[in-house]
Amino acid sequence: MIRRSHVLVCVAFLLLLAACGGAEASDSPLRQGREVYGNICSACHGSNGQGGIGPALADVAKTFPSCDEHVEWITLGSDQWKIVHGDTYGANDSPIEQVMPGQGATLSAEQIKAVAAYERVFYGGMDEGTALDECGVSTPGSSE
Ligand code: HEC
Repeated sequence: MIRRSHVLVCVAFLLLLAACGGAEASDSPLRQGREVYGNICSACHGSNGQGGIGPALADVAKTFPSCDEHVEWITLGSDQWKIVHGDTYGANDSPIEQVMPGQGATLSAEQIKAVAAYERVFYGGMDEGTALDECGVSTPGSSE
């Protein structure tokens, strides 16, 4: 038999989970960025940004000193970037020798900014507030 008190404890727990989940999804760009990173980017850049098929991301803030460029790279991907900007990318004019798929058709502009900010903070070592501001995803009233 299932006891009534057990059911109540369960319901309370589920409500708590729902409340926490809702807050995470709505007010934290970095959490959103981490989710996108884990779903798409980690396959090539490694689960901790250490690199794999794609380069390690420790120098990402040097490669793209401005977040706008970082966002554009993710949006376009390497093939379209070549058409728009030529055969190199970033501040060091790194040659494009492999393929990175563009995400402009699969992710929202908000998601792309969020994942750029996530990479800049967690792999590029940038200050969180600066990165969020620069990428245009800082949430008023939220420290994350
Ligand atoms: C299919 C593999 C692949 C996936 C998926 C992928 N990338 Fe890449 N990425 C690459 C490759 C390859 C390069 C380097 C391009 C070259 O050398 O030609 C690159 C380069 C980069 C760079 C420049 C790093 C530097 O400092 O040179 C950034 C930033 C980046 N990717 C972000 C992302 C983000 C964000 C995602 C997820 C939305 C993502 N990538 C998904 C393969 C991938």
